[in-house]
Amino acid sequence: MEFLDNLVLPQSAEHIELLHYMLTLILFLFIPFISVVFGGTILSYLYKRKFNKEGKKELLLFAKDTIKILPVNSSVGLILGVMTLLTVLLILVQLLHKSGFPTINDLALSFFLVSVGLLFVYTYRLTFALKLVFDSVKKENPVIESNDDFSSYYQNASKLSGSAVKFALVLLFLGMWIFIGALTTVIYFDAWKPASFFATLFSARVLINFLIWICIAFSLTGVTLLFLFLFWKKDELKVSEDYKNFVVSVSAKLSLYFSLPIPILLFFSISLLPDSHLSGTLFAYLLIAMILLFLSLNFLYLLYYKKQYNYAPYLFFTFLFSVLSLIVKDQITISNATKYHSVLLSTEYDKILAELRGEGKGEVINAAELYQVRCGACHKFDQKLVGPAHFDVLPKYEGKEAQLVAFIRNPVKVDPAYPPMPNPGLKPAEAEAVAKYLLEEYQRLKR
Ligand code: HEC
Repeated sequence: MEFLDNLVLPQSAEHIELLHYMLTLILFLFIPFISVVFGGTILSYLYKRKFNKEGKKELLLFAKDTIKILPVNSSVGLILGVMTLLTVLLILVQLLHKSGFPTINDLALSFFLVSVGLLFVYTYRLTFALKLVFDSVKKENPVIESNDDFSSYYQNASKLSGSAVKFALVLLFLGMWIFIGALTTVIYFDAWKPASFFATLFSARVLINFLIWICIAFSLTGVTLLFLFLFWKKDELKVSEDYKNFVVSVSAKLSLYFSLPIPILLFFSISLLPDSHLSGTLFAYLLIAMILLFLSLNFLYLLYYKKQYNYAPYLFFTFLFSVLSLIVKDQITISNATKYHSVLLSTEYDKILAELRGEGKGEVINAAELYQVRCGACHKFDQKLVGPAHFDVLPKYEGKEAQLVAFIRNPVKVDPAYPPMPNPGLKPAEAEAVAKYLLEEYQRLKR
């Protein structure tokens, strides 16, 4: 995907912020959608197999309904599944521009797998409906089976349906595993670069996040089915009381069993994050997600055990918002983790802009003076004033001028023993000059 990287230009600071918001919004659409499509396809596949063994009619009906309503239709799939994933890819190409991060290749691969997987989901959905039509024709008109055309179409539809669902599940499973893997490496940006593609996929960090997604996918599928059957499509579906009870029991158990492990998995996932990635906002969103999850479990209890079906929309929205809150939490981590990189990109952008405008040429910046005026009030080399002595903090920036520039342009909280450093508001070229001056002075005075 290097060609993609060559296509993009560095971004301005405002643009980068916008990209983070867009990424969050796009994931709000993509994650819930792909979750219920995956969950719905698995349910349909399993219940169809169960029907083939046991022959109970409600099993087939459930297999049909899950694949009919959860993926909606192929245009929705194209917009919510394919376009959104492509947008995620394009946004991350920009955010990770010039970082040499291999994530983009993995994302492109997962885009391919998920798109083809969705194609198979809709093939399965279509052939399933066809097969049912064939079945009912056969029932009404038994002689037709001796018609060659009919039986060959019938068999082809059955065969296609059977292999499409397997391809769909394998491709979605692999595609989402790689997708979660790629996002996880971005979450750990700067703190962890796995050695290879397989080292990424089988690392504890990725496996835990992938398990969290699997749990979310199944419980959200259950919750969505309850919402659709008991509230949203109540009148449209017109189901018998027996079938309704069957759907409620399957969906409620599914949501319950798969939402219970989520808090434990989240705990492990958070404990693997480096300290530098933790922040108050992260815990705030985590807390909101947990409270909403707890509320939704209460609604599930009222709905399933007390048969109070009017709680279905409350259950659905509390659970959905809990998932969205978890997505925000991850986006905050990503934006924290790539902060330095973002400043590097925007510095580059400002430089290009200045060159285009013909500024900055021939203008000489007096770094020593600038330092005295802008930094001298709080810093000395050998003594701490408001901020730490430079001798104490500069060693970690030796040979890392870009990082120092990034800090000066956009100071982040480092040492709890000090107050946060206010942004000195230097222009990119000035920040570079001061950083260079600081490192040179440090080398000179050290001796
Ligand atoms: C108003 C006071 C103030 C001014 C002005 C100021 N700083 Fe700081 N600086 C601080 C404080 C306080 C800290 C400690 C921040 C922390 O640890 O979170 C700090 C920390 C630093 C660090 C250490 C960063 C690290 O990663 O540990 C560097 C380098 C630094 N400042 C450079 C500068 C430069 C260069 C300027 C001028 C452009 C400047 N500071 C202006 C107060 C100031």
